[in-house]
Amino acid sequence: MAEAPPAGRRIRKAVFPVAGLGTRFLPATKTVPKEMLPIIDRPLIQYAVDEAIEAGCDTLVFVTNRYKHAVADYFDKAYELEQKLERAGKTEQLELVRHVLPEGVRAVFVTQAEALGLGHAVLCARPVIGDEPFAVLLPDDLIWNRGPGALKQMADAAQASGASVIATQDVPRAQTGSYGIVATDDFRGRQGRITAMVEKPDPASAPSTLAVVGRYVLSPRIFDLLEATAPGAGGEIQLTDAISALLREQPVLAYRFQGTRFDCGTHIGLVEATIRYALDHEVLSDAARQMMQSALGEMGVVDQE
Ligand code: UTP
Repeated sequence: MAEAPPAGRRIRKAVFPVAGLGTRFLPATKTVPKEMLPIIDRPLIQYAVDEAIEAGCDTLVFVTNRYKHAVADYFDKAYELEQKLERAGKTEQLELVRHVLPEGVRAVFVTQAEALGLGHAVLCARPVIGDEPFAVLLPDDLIWNRGPGALKQMADAAQASGASVIATQDVPRAQTGSYGIVATDDFRGRQGRITAMVEKPDPASAPSTLAVVGRYVLSPRIFDLLEATAPGAGGEIQLTDAISALLREQPVLAYRFQGTRFDCGTHIGLVEATIRYALDHEVLSDAARQMMQSALGEMGVVDQE
């Protein structure tokens, strides 16, 4: 009988690199960080935080820049607002404001002095993470699932295998130039061992159409490899380069998570997510459906009944 793989440690810490400039959403991101853009009534960062907590994380590390007070303010206590809501008897709203983080979960803020890339942002979290496996979540990749969240699925796979785990999804070949693309051994169920990783390959030279999505469970060895990573494309320290080095030393799994991913780092992705969440919303669903039908009807896209 084959020996069971060594079990890994359960992840407890999650890193949210939110120090990017968010240039694709200018001018909004002049003052509002991309991660604070809402889908209905919750900012993108809240969806990612909830996913990390569901996966078992109790320490959330936000890598911000010195202009991004909004993210820290959001997770801070809002004394004046709470007092006003309390006095006005708005208990439901008060609960919403108070419980952006549940009891027992702590938020730690680390500054990335210069936007030197995603890899550099992850490295900034090293003093808080220490020597244990941890998660990285990019909040502009919003993942919706009726069952367990994507990170929970990956954390379970990481714990069972002892490997690092990277979220992946199949994309049309024409889009490989927008993603990190992985080559893998054969898949068993949802996971396959990564053999190579290429950043934004041309469709013609891409080793597969399996694209990396913004969820990672990483071995702490990644920090040494990031330290040794020279700036790559655009003068930035790329997380992909360090992962390429990691997979030469340790198993790194590609994981085809269950769920739908919205690329909220793009205009159309944010629109798509808003529409899908509205259609699934317990209060807004009917109104959203009607509004969309009549909007499409007025534009001559569908026949109105
Ligand atoms: P993106 O490539 O989406 O860049 O970064 P961006 O600056 O956020 O957005 P655009 O492309 O200018 O519109 C991927 C993730 O890495 C973080 C970003 O905040 C985002 O979550 N990041 C990127 C950092 O934290 N620091 C960096 O130096 C670069």
